[in-house]
This record gives sequence, C-alpha cells and structure tokens, in this order.
Amino acid sequence: MKNKIDESNVVSRQELGVITNFLKNIFKLKNPDELVKNAEKSNLNKTLGAFDLIVLGVGAIIGSGIFTVVGIATVGGPESVGAGPALIVSMVLASIACIFSALCYSEFAAMIPVAGSAYVYTFATMGEMMAFVIGWVLMLEYLLGYIAVASAWTGYLFQFLKGFEAYLPAWMVNQDVWVFEIGKLFGTLPVTLNIPAIIATIIFGAILVKGTRESTRAAAIMVVIKLAVILMFVLTGAFFVKPENWTPFAPNGFEGIFMGAFIIFFAYIGFDAIATAAEETKNPQKNLPIGIIGSLLVCTLVYVLVGLVLTGAVPLNEIDIQAPVAHAMRYIGQDWVAGFISIGALTGLTSVLLVLMLAGTRILFAMSRDKLLPSPLQIVHPKFQTPYVVTILFVILAVLGSLFLNINVAAELCNFGTLTCFMIVCLAIIILRKIDPNRPRPFKVPLVPFFPLMGIICCGGLMIYSMKSLTTSSMLFPVWLVVGAMIYFAYGYRKNKIEEQEK
Ligand code: ALA
Repeated sequence: MKNKIDESNVVSRQELGVITNFLKNIFKLKNPDELVKNAEKSNLNKTLGAFDLIVLGVGAIIGSGIFTVVGIATVGGPESVGAGPALIVSMVLASIACIFSALCYSEFAAMIPVAGSAYVYTFATMGEMMAFVIGWVLMLEYLLGYIAVASAWTGYLFQFLKGFEAYLPAWMVNQDVWVFEIGKLFGTLPVTLNIPAIIATIIFGAILVKGTRESTRAAAIMVVIKLAVILMFVLTGAFFVKPENWTPFAPNGFEGIFMGAFIIFFAYIGFDAIATAAEETKNPQKNLPIGIIGSLLVCTLVYVLVGLVLTGAVPLNEIDIQAPVAHAMRYIGQDWVAGFISIGALTGLTSVLLVLMLAGTRILFAMSRDKLLPSPLQIVHPKFQTPYVVTILFVILAVLGSLFLNINVAAELCNFGTLTCFMIVCLAIIILRKIDPNRPRPFKVPLVPFFPLMGIICCGGLMIYSMKSLTTSSMLFPVWLVVGAMIYFAYGYRKNKIEEQEK
C-alpha cells in the first residue's frame, strides 16, 4: 500500500515537472533589450523618416475600404445591415477604436523599434506562445487583406481599361479573358485564376526585394494621386449634396451603425503596418509615433468627408456596392471625375498592396529570427539587404490564396485578425507598465490603464457584435487559430525547447 502511494507521488511529481516546464516554455518572455540588440544585427537599411512613415501609413490605409467596402458599410451586404447616412458615425467609431490602439502601438514602437510590431510586443509581455499566435493572426491580417485588395485591384483595372475600349483590342479589356474559374475544389469551392492579380503580385514582390526605400518612393507618388482624386470627389460632390438624402439618418438604428463600423474598420487597417518597418526607420523613437498617429488622423478626416459627400449626393437606394465612389460621380452627371476615380482607386490599391506585402514579410522575418518558423526565412539579400526569401514565400502564398478567394470573407477575416491584434497590443501596454515600469518610454500612452482598456472594449465590442451576423468568417477565424496552434506545437515550441536543452 505504502509503495503504491509513493509510486503515484513520483508520477505526479514527474507530471508536475513536465507541466511546469511546458508552462515555462510557452510563457517565456523576451527581454526588450535583447530584442533591440538582435535587431541591430539584422543589417536592414535605416532609411525611413517621419514623412516617409506618414506616406507609408496613408499608402497602407486608403484603399479598397474607401473605394469599395464603403458601399456595403452604407447599404448593407449579404450577412450585414448598412449604416445609411450614419456611416460617418460608424467611421468615427471605427476610428476611435483605432486611435486607442494607435497610441499603444506608438508607445511600443518607440520603446522596442524592431521589425515585427504586435508580434514582438507580445513576445516581450505575454511569452512565446501568445507571440506565435499573434504573429499568426497578423499573417491573417496582411495576407488575407492583401488577397482581398488584390481582387478589388483587378476589378478597378478593368474599369480603367474600359475607358480605353475604343482603342484597345476587345480581349484586352474583357475581364473574363483574364479572370476565370478553372475548376472546383471538393466539388464546391470555386478555384479562380486571376491572372492580372498574379502578375501584379510577382511585380510587387520584385519591387520589395529591390528595396524598401524604392517602394516607399513609389508609394509616395501613388499616395499623392489617390489623395488628389479623393479631393476631386469631395470638391465636386459637395455641390450636389442634398441634405434630404441624410434623412432618415440611421435607417437600421444602432445595429446598422455597429455593423457599418465593423465593415468600415477595414478601411483603417494599415497604420499598424508602419510599426513593422521600425528597423528601417531613422530615429524611430520620435518618428514612429508621428507616423502612426499622423496617418490615422489624415485618413479619418478624408473618410468622413467622403462619407458626407457620398451619402449626401446619392440617395441611399441608389448607392452602388461595387464601385460606390466612382458611381456617385456618374450619378450626379460628372462622368469625367468617375474616370479619374478609377485611376485613383487603382493607384490607391497598388500602394496598399505594397505596404501589406511589406508588413507581412517583416512579420515572417521576425518569427523566423525567433526560431518559431524555419531559419531560411531570415536570409537577407546580399546586395539589396532586404529579406528576399520571405518575400518570395509571401508572393507564393498570396497567389495560392487568390485562387480560392471570396473577397468579402477575406476582408472580414482580415478585420477579425486585426481587431484581435489591437486588443492584445492594448493589453500588452498595461502588462509592460506593470512588469517593467522603469523602462525608458520615449512616447507614453496617456491615462493608462484607461485608454488601453477603452481600446480593448471598442475592438472587442465591434468583433463580438459582428460575429452575430457574419457566420462564415466567424467560423473560419477559429480554424485559422487552431492551424496556427498546431504549427506552433509541431515546430516552434519543439525547436526552441530542443535548443534550450542543448545549451
Ligand atoms: N485599409 C486598407 C484598404 O482599405 C486595407 O484597402
């Protein structure tokens, strides 16, 4: 009897040891100083200033959200009701959720200026497993965001080419020649070959391998074009606004406003991407907060103006959901502006694609550097000093993903991923203030923990509320998390544990 008790004691002690070790490993924190030191070794070129970052931010933010998704946010979509003219309230709500998170991103980005953004911040505060989860969710944000925007890009490309129908051969402007179904996976899931998006993705990949500075320069030109086009829309449309179009102001009440805020949230995604370029930024402690908050404010202003004009100039039941902004100009008889809008949308989407790819590759790079993903992903090009292996991988994943794309679901999933990251970053700020209060913080979020908590409540509220109606994406999001967890335990966790034992 006595022996039996002893034996079970030994087993439970062994088990306890395994569990303690397991917990120690998955909650192992990274020291922020070590992170910064590692990053200093990475050889990435430091070329970006505050202005470059705002350009990068506006380049990443203004895209298919305001040119396409705004239609569904206003009118409603297959699984959601629209905000109506109260769209501007939805925009402000989405922007408020972003501002709290932007402040938290800024504090982190200035304190730990390394590539990888939310992923790295989580590593420093919540340990390896949560960091992997966030890296994985960020990939969802950037990759699916990229795929959704790439699909919208093709749509606008053909809108643009249609303007030259008279001068171009018919096959060139016919979208069906370039985008077509090649079969069905499992007999139901359509597999679509989107040739223009594939070619563009390969070209963007090549641009990013050539150099970050070059790509931000190209993004700057595109930002100027898209802002000019939006300004043209606002100034032209303002003369056609009829205040009676603003009533009823909120035809679907709060539900419409909240669903609108969730959907239009997609239009704000991108400012967080700035933080992923931290290692390539000059004087990051000062420039990163300016870049992040500055670009968010510029975009909020632009969006509210577009929202006012769109809902004021076009009656709600006439707003188009494919190309609402260009259609609005046609509706008021300003076809020439509509033509310019396709050009602006095309360039706008191009810059978003470039930045999303830049951000996605930097996340993979950082995860590989921490041995959570295979080491070849951190190989830097000897001549261009850019992480070219991850860029090639991103291009391959984006091309494969685009085959099975459903643009709405991709955008919603991208929102889920981003909202999750924002909440974690807000939580991480509170944790790091507690566990490392004396660390120098060149930029500090005011009113901690109130502001980060507000960020968590706003983002969490939007997410939970929308899950009620968006059934497809709410089912797929947990699937993505489970796949990530499996990869972590099959690769990252084991690899880091083995190395620890070898030390
Ligand atoms: N904010 C980006 C866009 O609207 C993702 O396209």
